Amino acid sequence: MTEMELACQKFSQLLQEQMERISHMNQEKTDFTTKPVVTIGLIDGDGIGPIIMEQATQVLHKLLEKEIAQGSVVCKKIEGLTIENRLALGESVPRQVLEEIKSCDVLLKGPTTTPMGGTMESANVTLRRELDLYANVRPVSIPEEGIDWIFYRENTEGEYVLGSRGVELPGLAMDFKVTTDAGTRRIARAAFEYAKNNGKNRVSIVTKANIMKKTDGKFTAICHEVAKDYPEIQTDDWYIDIMTANLVNPAIRNQFQVFVLPNLYGDIITDEAAQIQGGVGTAGSANMGDRYAMFEAIHGSAPRMIAEGLGDYANPESILKALCLLLRHICRGVAAAQLEKAMDACPVKVTGDKTGATAREYTKKLLTLL
Ligand code: IPM
Ligand code: MG
Repeated sequence: MTEMELACQKFSQLLQEQMERISHMNQEKTDFTTKPVVTIGLIDGDGIGPIIMEQATQVLHKLLEKEIAQGSVVCKKIEGLTIENRLALGESVPRQVLEEIKSCDVLLKGPTTTPMGGTMESANVTLRRELDLYANVRPVSIPEEGIDWIFYRENTEGEYVLGSRGVELPGLAMDFKVTTDAGTRRIARAAFEYAKNNGKNRVSIVTKANIMKKTDGKFTAICHEVAKDYPEIQTDDWYIDIMTANLVNPAIRNQFQVFVLPNLYGDIITDEAAQIQGGVGTAGSANMGDRYAMFEAIHGSAPRMIAEGLGDYANPESILKALCLLLRHICRGVAAAQLEKAMDACPVKVTGDKTGATAREYTKKLLTLL
């Protein structure tokens, strides 16, 4: 068979797999208002992960002390999602670790290192796919500027789903981007439902549909279709390039509220938005599906901080914000509000280096405010 024929064969297999994926998309939703026991999996990750997760674990135990004692909340530490173990086993998420993860309802996860080069997939991408965590939700708020944004980033398709499975012929490389009706409908529904339930009256769809006509064209069209069920909400659509400019335009940026966008644009623009808020260390991130949800810091494992001996100075605020999102997701809104209030009031400043406090000093003070 020629290389061209082999590539065509591979493409046909990818198409079949993607059609197959659509048929598994609708899972039953976990209802946390009635679930008698909620199991929270705690995953350290790499680099500064164990340090910031130690803080988050202490805070979680204090906030839900009674429920943990009564057994209605179970915290389960999950070992083995480390870069050393993953490389040794040659699996981005080792099978046994994945099984343990699947025995939980929600996860709080420290950052995991993605090896550069090679073929190993990012653990995040594997977990998002395996647990079907289709909505990546990232809030950004700057109250003094009237900014209260929330990004609904599609988290299981787009450029990511076949990101490590492109084809190469001599002198040519081709990657694939996938958009499905069902995959778009569920992220659009999540964004509009959020808007409706949280007093927001505007949803902005962001794509590059003038260029990516099939995939982003579909994304925009389906979002508009879903929007018809929410006539009280203003819906507009934008191209990603001008939207990145809008976010740094103080004259208009606080008029945006809810954003819904495909995976890669969502990845890029949420780093920009977090930076506007004060840095990627300040933003939390939720990966939500119908059955499972995973909450994490938006930043990475910071191997440079560890190499420079600054790990203890890592800022735990991002993972604590992720913890707030987790608590709200499992319907523990009172505990979430308590944590938000304490974080706002905490006078200890962590800067990520020796000019600021350590993560442990921050937590020590925070615990007195809870
Ligand atoms: C994020 C990260 C991930 C992504 C990486 C770690 C794979 O940048 O969560 O935004 O690209 O989605
Ligand atoms: Mg990112």
